[in-house]
Amino acid sequence: MWKNSSQGFGRLAIGIHWLSALAVFGLFGLGWWMRTLSYYDPWYRLGPWWHKSIGISLLALTLLRVLWRWRNTKPRPLGTALEQKLAGFGHGLLYLLLVLVMVTGYLISTADGRGISVFDWFEVPALVTGLHDQAEVAGSIHWYAAWSLVVLALGHGLVALKHHFINKDGTLKRMLVTQPSEEN
Ligand code: HEM
Ligand code: HEM
Repeated sequence: MWKNSSQGFGRLAIGIHWLSALAVFGLFGLGWWMRTLSYYDPWYRLGPWWHKSIGISLLALTLLRVLWRWRNTKPRPLGTALEQKLAGFGHGLLYLLLVLVMVTGYLISTADGRGISVFDWFEVPALVTGLHDQAEVAGSIHWYAAWSLVVLALGHGLVALKHHFINKDGTLKRMLVTQPSEEN
């Protein structure tokens, strides 16, 4: 039940999907709030520490997710040919924006040559530093890409709810619980 089947997603894909969704919305809220803090607020330093630590963990989780997806069976697509095309495009765009937000987050953080401490447990080295206006350029891409990601994810969530409540098909159900495989 950890792996995907033709009928639905396995436990690992489901767990990673929802953990990532929680992290994305949480990081967006935290990032937004971080901008409002004054220099003397204790969260002025703590906020970015959590944001970067969770962000790097999400990056590792996303790499695992893509690897797992590539090595695993894909559940049978649902819906019409057009819906399948749109879903494929939308999911591809979600993956792309996720990676763009995390890579630009890394580039903002390493612009001054310092590595990123992950929960004070280990440090990710600064491999790319000193590009022209690195922090500013990466910072504005980070902002717009994070916004696009969150808006697209909300639209994607609404489409999932439409499938569940209006079309009454198994789209949302198979991202919530593992489905019995056809052989059983
Ligand atoms: C999907 C994951 C992420 C989301 C949704 C997200 C979202 C945001 C948002 C909304 C802001 C505030 C906007 C701004 O100050 O420009 C922000 C700021 C920031 N993020 Fe992220 N972020 C994510 C991942 C990361 C990662 C992986 C890192 C680095 C390892 C990172 C590092 C930063 C830094 C350093 C800032 C402060 C930028 C500044 O003060 O200009 N973020 N993030
Ligand atoms: C930041 C939030 C989210 C992100 C980044 C995200 C991303 C993704 C991606 C990339 C896939 C494709 C999985 C694959 O085939 O590899 C997917 C599938 C799915 N997501 Fe999300 N998602 C988010 C939030 C949500 C929410 C809030 C809901 C529901 C309310 C939802 C429901 C679903 C469903 C039902 C599928 C399975 C679609 C299918 O059967 O092909 N997602 N999601």
